Amino acid sequence: VIDITKLYAQGGVFTYDPGFTSTASCDSTITFIDGGKGELLYRGYPIDQLAEKSHYLEVCYLLLYGELPSEAELVDFESRVTRHTMVHEQMIKFFSGFRRDAHPMAIITGVVGAMSAFYHDSTDVNDPWQREVAAIRMIAKLPTICAMAFKYSVGQPFVYPKNDLDYSSNFLRMCFAVPAEEYEVNPILAKAMDRIFTLHADHEQNASTSTVRLAGSSGANPFACIAAGIACLWGPAHGGANQACLEMLREIGSVDNIPEYVARAKDKDDPFRLMGFGHRVYKNFDPRAKVMKESADEVLGLLGIEDNETLKVAKELERIALEDPYFVDKKLYPNVDFYSGIILEAMGFPTSMFTPIFALSRTVGWISQWKEMLGDPGQKIGRPRQLYLGDTERDYIDVEKR
Ligand code: ACO
Repeated sequence: VIDITKLYAQGGVFTYDPGFTSTASCDSTITFIDGGKGELLYRGYPIDQLAEKSHYLEVCYLLLYGELPSEAELVDFESRVTRHTMVHEQMIKFFSGFRRDAHPMAIITGVVGAMSAFYHDSTDVNDPWQREVAAIRMIAKLPTICAMAFKYSVGQPFVYPKNDLDYSSNFLRMCFAVPAEEYEVNPILAKAMDRIFTLHADHEQNASTSTVRLAGSSGANPFACIAAGIACLWGPAHGGANQACLEMLREIGSVDNIPEYVARAKDKDDPFRLMGFGHRVYKNFDPRAKVMKESADEVLGLLGIEDNETLKVAKELERIALEDPYFVDKKLYPNVDFYSGIILEAMGFPTSMFTPIFALSRTVGWISQWKEMLGDPGQKIGRPRQLYLGDTERDYIDVEKR
């Protein structure tokens, strides 16, 4: 029971909204979600149309600047991004400081934060030109940084960007090529990769985006803000769910074991949840999951591995859960992470790379939201209040008397 007089005594009345389920923290023109209809729009364009007809760098332009680019604008934007794909050579020393078995998310959180120590000409948040350069730098360098984290974790030499390739092909090559050996990027995989990037590019005020905005509201430099977003994304209730989901599907192992796991998910004494199910906003279906499912079928079919056991478990689990009153009543549907892991695994990525790939894709969303916030003349430092339930004032007791 909330004692209203106590609240007044604490300096006024404010809303108490744990998890911010009913609080809008900002206004925005970037991304729209209708959770009831299962609709996701970037700057007004439906996600399924963008996934089918556009490509990631065009979507980046759209998110950053508000409109689809003309042909000339797209060429210019792509060349600006391409010019910045290399990272400073001294950064290699930074990578080598990590343990060989470090999680790539730990590495990229550190490396992105450390970029502010390397690019002094793009840390002044009051200078629009510096903000723009920081944005382009991060979109360009995140694939390189993620690929380096991957190569480091598998003990292989880094592969430098090859800038006559498109964004997704370049990333796949940096991950899977071995220096001095021929490597041809499979166009089917490059297209699937690009679609994963597009589907994850922005998602309005989720936990990591709100973290970026909150960090940015204090005037922190852009690299520090994005590093904060990456750290937040890592949690299994957020971006870490794609790794957790594939690990769960593997643990289930066979369709015969599904009922046991479904029963555990429904048992309130068991903390187990079906990873990849449920969403704070989507209470009908996640439109990204729909596209991702089609993509998983397509990629596995084209690679000739459609009898993949993990995919069979995923499909059967989805079928059972969608008919089970527990999941139906609570409106728990597969989310974007449910199928993305299957595609990434088919491409050859270990589960530890799933969340870094999400971070890479979401970087443009974080930056767009950060830029929008800084451009708002009414912008204030984020400063939530609390409902204090601790002791009232009391006198200090000397240690010998306690
Ligand atoms: N499995 C079983 N039960 C679940 C699940 C699940 N995956 N998700 C929610 N529930 C149940 C809860 O136990 C709760 O039941 P109750 O009302 O009887 O107490 C009810 O559904 C509501 O759950 P909340 O946790 O209150 O819902 P919230 O909106 O806060 O959480 C979240 C959403 C975090 C995504 C949650 O559904 C979850 O943990 N899912 C699994 C993790 C996951 O897939 N995360 C990825 C989200 S998408 C993204 O970040 C890209």
